[in-house]
Amino acid sequence: METFDDLVPEINELRRQRKAIILSHYYQRPEIQDIADFVGDSLELSRKAASNDAEVIVFCGVHFMAESAAILSPDKIVLLPDLRATCPLADMAGAASLRSRKAELDSPVVVSYVNTTADVKAESDICCTSANAIRVIESIPPERQILFVPDRNLGAYVAKQTGRELVLWPGFCCIHDELEPGEVFEARRRYPEALVLVHPECRPEVVALADKVASTSGMLRFVEESDAREFIIGTEEGLTYQMSKRCPGKKFYLLSNGLVCDTMKLITLPKVRDALKNLEPRITVPEHTRRRALRALERMLAI
Ligand code: 13P
Repeated sequence: METFDDLVPEINELRRQRKAIILSHYYQRPEIQDIADFVGDSLELSRKAASNDAEVIVFCGVHFMAESAAILSPDKIVLLPDLRATCPLADMAGAASLRSRKAELDSPVVVSYVNTTADVKAESDICCTSANAIRVIESIPPERQILFVPDRNLGAYVAKQTGRELVLWPGFCCIHDELEPGEVFEARRRYPEALVLVHPECRPEVVALADKVASTSGMLRFVEESDAREFIIGTEEGLTYQMSKRCPGKKFYLLSNGLVCDTMKLITLPKVRDALKNLEPRITVPEHTRRRALRALERMLAI
């Protein structure tokens, strides 16, 4: 069995030869976060994918993230080390059903979460992530109807924060949507000194009980800047690795044992090495879809 000590020099050598950059989401395994050139949330990763001088991007995340990199950087080779690393939430909206829903509404502005396929982005006016969703909604003229795709919980949160009425798609993240108010009460009982942080993909009744609601990067910034020493974290467990690394004196408890995204964890060091060696599996987007999806992503990045 290959060890971390064997794989890391091999990956470093291949990364140099291939002029590659390794991007990792905070939900990745600790060893992937450690070897990455850049670790970030969906928004930061999109920005990084759009502006770097590498020839190859190894995307350690899920399919829609690598696809966004391929849309933003068509001249680069974009690799996803395991093609089975998909996002169930992104798969809850399809382009054909989105077209039908739009036809039922009053020429809505379609705001799609980046957790969508390229085909859905191509049918959208503007993208958002959980870090900028409020600003994106606020950029839309108040008289326009908005269709928010596909996360109903993020949509409900943003509607409440902005006072806008949104038409919500019925999608959800299987990990965040499972969290229950009872788990927040139980965690507060066990760790009375700790602050509760949750992702806006959690249900409204869980969001209502939190001390802080934020994207992964927002939570990370919050724990770094807070005077508190203990935190209960309501998002995928990978983020707590980065929190512990950046704040060694602070304590992080997961809100539930079920906070593991199995598809994020499909990316491993041997697969990153193989992707760099073989320049496969590649993520590409047909040009006419790419151009339309790019408009929605660029509008978001301009905000
Ligand atoms: P962030 O944009 O907060 O990193 O979230 C990404 C995601 O997929 C949450 O489930």
